[in-house]
Amino acid sequence: MCGIVGAVAQRDVAEILVEGLRRLEYRGYDSAGVAVLDNNNLQRVRRLGKVAELAEALTREPVSGGTGIAHTRWATHGEPSERNAHPHMSAEHIAVVHNGIIENHVSLKTALEAKGHAFSSDTDTEVIAHLVVEELKNASSLLHAVQNTVKQLKGAYGTVIIDKNDPERMIVARSGSPLVVGLGIGENFVASDQLALLPVTRRFIYLEEGDVAEITRRSVDIFNTLGEKIVREIHESSANYDAADKGPYRHFMLKETFEQPESVTSTLEGRLGEHTVLEETFGNGAATLFHQVQHVQIVACGTSYHAGMVARYWLETYAGISCNVEIASEFRYRKSFVQPNSLLVSISQSGETADTLAALRLAKDLGYLGSLTICNVAGSSLVRESDLAFMTRAGAEIGVASTKAFTTQLVGFAMLTLAIGKHHGLTLDKQKELTAALKSLPRKLEETLELAKSIEGLAEDFADKHHALFLGRGDQYPIAMEGALKLKEISYIHAEAYAAGELKHGPLALIDAEMPIIVVAPNNDLLEKLKSNVEEVRARGGQLYVFADAASQFKSDDTMKVIQIPDVHPWLAPIVYTLPLQLLSYYVAIIKGTDVDQPRNLAKSVTVE
Ligand code: G6P
Repeated sequence: MCGIVGAVAQRDVAEILVEGLRRLEYRGYDSAGVAVLDNNNLQRVRRLGKVAELAEALTREPVSGGTGIAHTRWATHGEPSERNAHPHMSAEHIAVVHNGIIENHVSLKTALEAKGHAFSSDTDTEVIAHLVVEELKNASSLLHAVQNTVKQLKGAYGTVIIDKNDPERMIVARSGSPLVVGLGIGENFVASDQLALLPVTRRFIYLEEGDVAEITRRSVDIFNTLGEKIVREIHESSANYDAADKGPYRHFMLKETFEQPESVTSTLEGRLGEHTVLEETFGNGAATLFHQVQHVQIVACGTSYHAGMVARYWLETYAGISCNVEIASEFRYRKSFVQPNSLLVSISQSGETADTLAALRLAKDLGYLGSLTICNVAGSSLVRESDLAFMTRAGAEIGVASTKAFTTQLVGFAMLTLAIGKHHGLTLDKQKELTAALKSLPRKLEETLELAKSIEGLAEDFADKHHALFLGRGDQYPIAMEGALKLKEISYIHAEAYAAGELKHGPLALIDAEMPIIVVAPNNDLLEKLKSNVEEVRARGGQLYVFADAASQFKSDDTMKVIQIPDVHPWLAPIVYTLPLQLLSYYVAIIKGTDVDQPRNLAKSVTVE
């Protein structure tokens, strides 16, 4: 969602703030702004559009000063516009940036208007600025005013507040939206993601739910919901400073697609024994839990949900354990039946997705045996709040459309399948076979990426299309779903995925020469069934694009283009077949000229409902 950066330093902070926003732009990008304090002068610059627009405005209209806050927005309340861009102000001395949604903003606004506050935006955020001004009338400090303010807020917030009349500090508060404090030498920072602060520090404190912190150049004081001063652990980050650079690639998405052999290698590294997976990989006590577990409930959103869908096939087929998968936003709002000895598994690239986090919190009261998260961000809320965590080590993923985060999630699930399977009858021979397959995966991914040029050649066929249909069966059905999601996310072509057996129950009516049909067809137990479905399409004049290995024996002709994928163990075929679909949507988006890394209306990390 929105991105936040704040700094208190002796030096001018405007450049640090803007660089931080650039690194956070993946979170939201419809408008951006900064407010900087210099000798009791509060300077605010905001722009509609991307961070580049703001940076340009700042070259023409420079601001200076050592205390500042900045924000890149993904609109929730109020259209994208300069007046709705953060920071928001009150009484010309309080400036606020906020990520999240204040659910009771309407009633707060009515009360504040009755007290004479005039609102200058349509955002929910602005109530925070006016509330702080109100609270300052009775509070002894900015800290106390903010503590009293957040008590009145319902909903989710990560917020940073500065005061022209008290320019040496910023007050930050977190509930439901992530904030990390960055510790410098004689200067301190805050951001919604540590990535923003890597150019200035490696030392971080992750704020917990309900924390309020007072940050000055020399101190960081943190208070819990009861107002008690508390000490939170300092983490040293080893994240890669250059992660936010595109290198030789035109887009982050392409870079991240090509990084997959490497990110899968790191995800596997040190975690596989000679014949199986090392269970400590999942955390202390994992082996005991995996021994007891009889059912797995997976919750996730978006691309991560597709990873969960693949995992269901794997856990039931190979690990011999029952599994359900549900979209987190559905799971959290329905009464669900918890099977005895169930493990709750959440999957999330960011570790901060509001619905997934809410599902995990709900599950804690429902009697699950324990919780595991498969996640790419150390220190994120899901990692901190789960009993066990498997870190995917994909490295920072900046492109909004998930690529390497997805395939490393699948690797996490493959390892979970082995880890649980060995307690539930997966034979040693089978463990050896699957472990060997996993070890060969990075090489298979490299070979698959060599197909990029020929896939680019297909993209022309899609550029003038309005719809596309993706087909798969078994564990390739979720891959078809992921392919369709990628295409619609970045090329804005409406795409749907069907389990191929469902074709005749509706979508067959859509097939004509204008409808491209993409089929994922590795040689597996369902191939013959899938071939019948392909014939159903061919008989109705559909244009087919088939991704298959040599053993599948598809041949290109007038109605079918076949792209030959390297042979791979059927278990891991979903991971390998994901790559050509990522590349296809990328090249289609290039021809269509869309904003590949930051597609319209989307955000990378969805920290609001
Ligand atoms: C957003 C992103 C998707 C992602 C989904 C879930 O919609 O654009 O790429 O799959 O959130 O995010 P998570 O961080 O929980 O995996």
